[in-house]
Amino acid sequence: MCGIVGIVGHQPVAQRLIDGLKRLEYRGYDSAGIATLCQGDIAIRRAKGKLQALQNLYDQDPIEGVIGIGHTRWATHGVPSEANAHPHISDRVAVVHNGIIENYAGLKEMLLNKGHQFASQTDTEAVVHLMTDYLSQGNSPIEALRRTLADIEGAFALVILVKGVEDTLLVARRGSPLVIGEGDGESYVGSDALVLAPWTQRLRYLEEGDYAIVSAQSIQIFNAQDQHVDRPVKTINISADAATKGGYDHFMLKEIFEQPTTVKDTVESLIDSSAETLNLPVDIDWNNISKLTMIACGTSYFSTAVAKYWFEMIARIPVEIDIASEFRYRESPLPKGGAALFISQSGETIDTLEAMKQAKADHQTTIAIVNVAESSMDRLADFSVHTKAGPEIGVASTKAFTAQLAVLACLCLDAAQKRGTLTSSQVQDHIQHLLNLPNEIYGILQKEADYQQVAHRMQPARDALYLGRGTNFPIAMEGALKLKEISYIHAEGYAAGEMKHGPIALIDDLMPVIVLAPHDKWMVKTLSNLQEVIARGGIAICFTDRLGRQHIEQDKIPAQIVEMPLSHPLTAPILYALPMQLLSYYTALLKGTDVDQPRNLAKSVTVE
Ligand code: M6R
Repeated sequence: MCGIVGIVGHQPVAQRLIDGLKRLEYRGYDSAGIATLCQGDIAIRRAKGKLQALQNLYDQDPIEGVIGIGHTRWATHGVPSEANAHPHISDRVAVVHNGIIENYAGLKEMLLNKGHQFASQTDTEAVVHLMTDYLSQGNSPIEALRRTLADIEGAFALVILVKGVEDTLLVARRGSPLVIGEGDGESYVGSDALVLAPWTQRLRYLEEGDYAIVSAQSIQIFNAQDQHVDRPVKTINISADAATKGGYDHFMLKEIFEQPTTVKDTVESLIDSSAETLNLPVDIDWNNISKLTMIACGTSYFSTAVAKYWFEMIARIPVEIDIASEFRYRESPLPKGGAALFISQSGETIDTLEAMKQAKADHQTTIAIVNVAESSMDRLADFSVHTKAGPEIGVASTKAFTAQLAVLACLCLDAAQKRGTLTSSQVQDHIQHLLNLPNEIYGILQKEADYQQVAHRMQPARDALYLGRGTNFPIAMEGALKLKEISYIHAEGYAAGEMKHGPIALIDDLMPVIVLAPHDKWMVKTLSNLQEVIARGGIAICFTDRLGRQHIEQDKIPAQIVEMPLSHPLTAPILYALPMQLLSYYTALLKGTDVDQPRNLAKSVTVE
């Protein structure tokens, strides 16, 4: 949610700031801007819309300077416009900000009364004028920053340029991520490791409440108590290629087709493939966990919904799942000896992060599954397991989801093994199916023509229904979310058995109904629901396997069938997620929407 970047050194920075913003554009894309210090003044370029608009502006009217900041915006306060685009400036400072200044209204009123003039509708501008006010009172830049930080409330990552201080970036974080990179004779600041990847891999992650003075040669970090602190240098190996489409038309398509590899990498980081045994990086005492609460948002929440079935059915642990933004205010009594598991691609989603803090305060053992190493959740949790999906740029989550499910399956087998709810040969049987997943995923991805054909039936629809039972109920919800996000077709995912309690009223001959029915203990019931759809004239499309097809053909059910391979119950939801991803992708293509940067969305949601 907003991406920020800063460079201080001895070489021109403006084009490199824009290049950095290209790697951050997934975080927000309604406007972008850069500012540098140049010949004693602040130079600024900002443009509404995608980053290309800023690039065009810069090409026509470049700016110079060896120190600068940049920002790509996802609007919170104020419409997307040039005036609301960051950086925001006064005659003394330029500021980029990720987060929300919650007390900005009171601060703005106070500053207006003192004669400051505001040029935007943003909360961020309060920071600009506070800093300016403290500087005009004779405070040094760092003292002005300290005083500003003491006044502001909310979540923020800030990078600030001060006119007249040509060799220093001031930075601060509370609630929003910020990383400082050490280069050779140059220093960098960014929202994540990916933006800094082509410049340096030597990174210092700021802790909550930290602020810093960053110059080309030195980095001085202070904690919230104003004590000088050392944050360790971590070497993060991320290839800058991850931020390219690698020959695909869209990041989303590239990421979908990476799944044989990303699932393989994830599974093999948790399983010794030659011994066919679990080899987890964490040792969780599942026997002493009375209840497992799983919390996440969006697609990551649907991972928890699949895992609830697994942990309850296989490891016999009672599980509660919750959407992070609801959990936080529900005041759910958490049991003594309970564990809380948090799932997040970014590891930064504020709702999930705050829920984790709450669970810690409630003495739960906290477990994180994250895709971004060194993210806030990764560092806060008692136990953390990484998905090995690599950077996910497409706003619609795909490869992170299947990698999360792979991790959850392994954790569930670990729990079952330790609790003795599966025999060792049953555990090994499950492991073999997980090891075979990449091949199965590859096979399913090859059937693009089938999904393209179904997409043609989806394209004219205003609404669509997705139905599934058991572990495929969450996949139905995930399929509906994917369709909504990138094709803007309204879609609902429902438990197939629940359809008759309401949504069935929506079915008519314009309504596609996607039914997920692998041959499992729920299939016969699900196919009865398919019949109910057909009886009401719905456009019935059933994803099933060879045995499901036989059943449908025997019963002469006139549904379109998309045939999937026969699957094991543990891996079926992972496999059925794949055609849902491609179906939404091809439908969006037919509708001509912006697949990688759908309207109103951002990849990493760091505001509540
Ligand atoms: O980074 P996280 O996994 O915590 O993000 C959670 C959701 O914001 C995310 O899954 C969102 O729903 C995606 N746009 C889904 O495609």
